[in-house]
Amino acid sequence: MDDLSIARALHVVGVVLWIGGVGMVTTVLLPVVKRDVASQRHALFEAIEGRFARQARATTLLVGATGFYMTWEQGLWDRLLDSAFWWMHAMVGVWLVFTLMLFLIEPLWLHRWFAHAAALRPERTFRTIVILHWLLLGTSLITVAGAVVGSHGGF
Ligand code: HEM
Repeated sequence: MDDLSIARALHVVGVVLWIGGVGMVTTVLLPVVKRDVASQRHALFEAIEGRFARQARATTLLVGATGFYMTWEQGLWDRLLDSAFWWMHAMVGVWLVFTLMLFLIEPLWLHRWFAHAAALRPERTFRTIVILHWLLLGTSLITVAGAVVGSHGGF
């Protein structure tokens, strides 16, 4: 097995763990938390999503490192200048959004804002979180489908 196959396998394993986790939070955790009384929602969501965020940081790093390695090893940079490879842009875009969110925005600002907003307006804050999760999950799944079809020459 060559380096590229190993990188591709690790890339997909990372994507499965990461996007699978986002799917679990969006389709299972949030609807369960919604049934809880508003005052307890925030604490429950924080406890579970806080643990997932640590895992997501590790998988984001793995997916980014293997993705950039595959791009460098095969000299695929010029794909980023061609709109036919929209799925390459989508991969980098999704990765960038999560990386900024998990490493910068959440620890520096979002965490404090979320605690504050959840105390003042629990219903509205929860609805915003649900919408954001569905947006991230939807975009990520379109990206996964596009990347599988695109990297096997399907477009
Ligand atoms: C820094 C970010 C990323 C880079 C540079 C990157 C790069 C790559 C490259 C070069 C390939 C192989 C393409 C080919 O063989 O023609 C690939 C495959 C793939 N990537 Fe990414 N990727 C990144 C992030 C992501 C993300 C965030 C996802 C999921 C949302 C993703 C999902 C996939 C999938 C599903 C494949 C196809 C694997 C297969 O069917 O063989 N990648 N990526």
